[in-house]
Amino acid sequence: MGETNETDPNRMHTWRFLEPSELTRPTHCPELPRVIEAGGPRSLADLRDYVTAEGDRLRAEMRARGGFLLRGFELNDPESFADIIGALGYRPEAENPFDTSPRHKVAASVYTSTDTPDPYPILAHNENSFLNARPRMISFFCFVEPPRYGETPLFDSRAAAATLDPSVREKLAARKVCYRRRLPKKRPAWAPNINRTWSEAFGTEDRDTIEEMVAERGMTCRWHPNGRLLHTENVVDPLPVHPDTGDRCLNLQAFHRTSILGDLDEVRPRQNPLHNASLKMGVSLLYALDAMPVQILYGDGSPIPPAEMAEIRRATWEHSVLFAWKKGDLLVLDNILTGHGRMNVEKPRKILTSFGDIVTFPV
Ligand SMILES: [Fe+2]
Repeated sequence: MGETNETDPNRMHTWRFLEPSELTRPTHCPELPRVIEAGGPRSLADLRDYVTAEGDRLRAEMRARGGFLLRGFELNDPESFADIIGALGYRPEAENPFDTSPRHKVAASVYTSTDTPDPYPILAHNENSFLNARPRMISFFCFVEPPRYGETPLFDSRAAAATLDPSVREKLAARKVCYRRRLPKKRPAWAPNINRTWSEAFGTEDRDTIEEMVAERGMTCRWHPNGRLLHTENVVDPLPVHPDTGDRCLNLQAFHRTSILGDLDEVRPRQNPLHNASLKMGVSLLYALDAMPVQILYGDGSPIPPAEMAEIRRATWEHSVLFAWKKGDLLVLDNILTGHGRMNVEKPRKILTSFGDIVTFPV
């Protein structure tokens, strides 16, 4: 599967695809992502010079395959990660209002990928796919390599859109999707890290400012007494057209019982069966209490039937790639063309993220 970079001016770094031995699940997308592996100079300065010189080719690679992985370079800290993202020409966001994932900042424009508890897999999604404005670029840096598990699965959003059952695709295109969020004032003691509070999500305690932010983005919101809870709703096109390639891409995050339980089934062989069953019971209980932090519905507020969500999940997972992280890996994705998620984690593992170059889609 290997391929040498014939146009590399130094003829030292290898451009190749992931080998089967690097994958943790068979894939139908063997060319996502391209791996650019250090074979020659590998210092941070060398890498900065390399990505600057090869900028056009790397951008073409992003459009063609949806992402690339820089491997084997001496990338050792969050600041170096941010340095290379800047050298690639991206403009990372310093803040990410409305984010659903609990995370914290570790350097300028660099965050933990998520602080969601380790046993939970994170659903396939394109970053901020629950908003009409979302980053074009998202990148991940493997600061601490996990001994096993903890993959960041990649999903080919073009292929998923193209292979969806036409009746489901037409329904999504016509009706759009609505994200209904439930943001508490305080994180519940029994689930400290599965949701953000409304002040964390919006970056302010001021309720008038939050209402202005919500209105500016075409969202609606409703407060419960004493600010105990905030509900927001917004409608998003789940099948946007990529601004450069013209491809229709499936961009969504399936906050739906069918998808969450499906993902817990996926990680079941990796977990204690009783623990896995208790996670499933917890999810079912949250649905029974109507207490899920986020739910996806059709744009008119009607539920998406389980069979239709199962079809969305099939098309998404059928075009997935799961590979084992290596320390120092830097993965750069086109966030519209390629989705991502997280498998269950066993510590230690530290994957950092940076994202930017916002694009806004019409509803
Ligand atoms: Fe994400």
